[in-house]
Amino acid sequence: MGIESYMGMTTGVCYYPEHWEEKDWKPDLLQMLENGIHVVRVAEFAWSFFEPEEGVFTFDFFDRFLEVARETGMKVIFCTPTATPPAWASNQYPEILNANRQGVLYRHGHRRHYNYNSPKYRELTRNIVTRLAEHYAGHPAIIGWQLDNEFNCGTDEFYSQSDSLAFRVYLRKKYGTLEALNKAWGTVFWNQSYTSWEEVFVPRPTVAGYTNPHMELEFIRFISQSTREFAKLQSDILRQYLPKETFITTNGIFGNVDNHAMTEESLDFITYDSYPNFAYDVFSSAPDPKEPEDRKWSRNLAQVRSICPHFGIMEQQSGPCGSVEGYGSPTPNPGQIKLWTLQSVAHGADFVSYFRWKTATIGSEIYWHGILDYDGRENRRLREVRETAAGLQKLRDAAGSTYKASFALLQDYDNLWDNRVDPWMERIDRQSQKAWFQASQKSHIPMDYLYLRENTTLEQLQRYPLLVYPHGAILRESTVRLLEAYVEQGGTLILGCRTGFKDEYGRCLRLPAPGLARGLSGATVEEFTFLRPEDPAPSIRWGEKTLEASVFADLLSPDPEGEVLATFEGGCFYAGTPALVRKQTGRGAVYAYASAFTEESARAFLEALPVESPFAPYLEGEEACELALREKEGKKFLFVLNYSKEPREIFLKQPMEERLEGKLHPEGKEQVEPYGVRVFAL
Ligand code: GAL
Repeated sequence: MGIESYMGMTTGVCYYPEHWEEKDWKPDLLQMLENGIHVVRVAEFAWSFFEPEEGVFTFDFFDRFLEVARETGMKVIFCTPTATPPAWASNQYPEILNANRQGVLYRHGHRRHYNYNSPKYRELTRNIVTRLAEHYAGHPAIIGWQLDNEFNCGTDEFYSQSDSLAFRVYLRKKYGTLEALNKAWGTVFWNQSYTSWEEVFVPRPTVAGYTNPHMELEFIRFISQSTREFAKLQSDILRQYLPKETFITTNGIFGNVDNHAMTEESLDFITYDSYPNFAYDVFSSAPDPKEPEDRKWSRNLAQVRSICPHFGIMEQQSGPCGSVEGYGSPTPNPGQIKLWTLQSVAHGADFVSYFRWKTATIGSEIYWHGILDYDGRENRRLREVRETAAGLQKLRDAAGSTYKASFALLQDYDNLWDNRVDPWMERIDRQSQKAWFQASQKSHIPMDYLYLRENTTLEQLQRYPLLVYPHGAILRESTVRLLEAYVEQGGTLILGCRTGFKDEYGRCLRLPAPGLARGLSGATVEEFTFLRPEDPAPSIRWGEKTLEASVFADLLSPDPEGEVLATFEGGCFYAGTPALVRKQTGRGAVYAYASAFTEESARAFLEALPVESPFAPYLEGEEACELALREKEGKKFLFVLNYSKEPREIFLKQPMEERLEGKLHPEGKEQVEPYGVRVFAL
């Protein structure tokens, strides 16, 4: 079931009954309810409260808390507490601990120090989750469950002995024979060939840190598989006990896990932890004040939306962030809590829960502030949360509405993970991802991410007139077939440099790039180079426009059907070489672009190609404002988010009802105050 059937624009907060005195619970919950907070998330780090000794289970503490929740009418998201194994477990069973690449175990004292593959940890997890489910499943206050807390946060790499053993099982299943594994990993290089499965380990320290890149890629796939199995182990147990209307979720999203598959297998919907102030760190160099960095969080939200079009926010920032390890950010400016909440909603959140009610007075997170400070007195931040929660109530009919994007950026886990292994591709892709996001934001042509997965259909691609696959170095045959059909039937596809030179194991093909996409693209790559750091970037002449090349250049040789639209210029040896080649295929076209993208070049594509701004009929706004549109059954909700500390102008092309204030705004110009938000309903 989707989130809209559960949450409908509710506001929640993370609460730690175990951090406060029992007499505080009721006043705290009542104060939350008075301020529009109707859901609390609890227990994700409270294993010892349920199982103080191995096999000894007690439920009194949370029974008492849940009774207070029931009595006050507060709804609860209950968590499985597996993110923090108890000290007795960490101490008695070192095999449950994760290790760093050097093999040194992560000891008790932080969190997420366990590994997913330890049979003992799986047994302990099975026991605790079963007992919690048996005891709490039908509790009237509980509306849903969160699995663990932030799978793969802190570290997303696993090097314990249990992982090596499980890696071998995984590899035997995948490759069948050592011969196949040796071939896939190219182990003949530097005499790495394996002669027995016992010789294979998770990556370990090597001279100069060089390892086998094909093995590293497979290792990430294995981590993803392990994470998914661990999530499924828990959700399978919960499903046996939970009433049908109780949901299962987890909060993400982190690296080295296929979040799409995990959600399909184990969750009703995903939730995201959104901390836009992460962009600021008072201990490091100041961010560029011209570009409000919190706006970048819209990119993460777009990623979350690709997993679930409607999702929840389990932790929305409500105060200054900081850790005792040396990280700190300023407190949100007046207006920013509301702005960031509506940023989440604009992108598809139907539920927003803040982190956390009162700031911890103990432990590593005394500087990671909640809504209230240590003293628990009402403050400015709570007043803003109250106002925001009241605003969300006026948007109840927006729950279940869908974000409207004009084009999509294609992504896939093969390349996402290979980029972690391949610094060349990482450098190129990082540049282009940022460029397309900025271009989309500033030109008010909204984008989605669309993940190419085994079950991706042509219909999913056809929702967009334009697809951009910036640098799909690994290109599978099935992907090429899908893209061909998309273009054939009228789609426009942009492929950036370095497309298609690798296979699914990350091995380079003995074919000219773009490899399997040679028939699709109108050009082959003759030669390639990083741009020379000491030289000015070559320019790319595209009709009237002069763009800057970025990071990398493919030297393209057009096919007879390839039409050269732009060429490199400037003091490079490849001046005059094609930089953009178009090939018409069927009713569509493929554009092969020979470099990484800049914001400017991405904008040039958006201007030249058949994409439209969904806002154009209703509204115009300055670049500094993000615009977003959610739609449901003919109803439209138009969000205007001003991230800047200056007032910004928008222009309404017709009178529209603004929902948060409940007023009709006339046609014409208006100012949006610093950090201001508007939600127009049509
Ligand atoms: C999240 C985590 C919370 C809390 C918060 C602030 O990543 O889920 O438990 O630690 O960050 O650091």
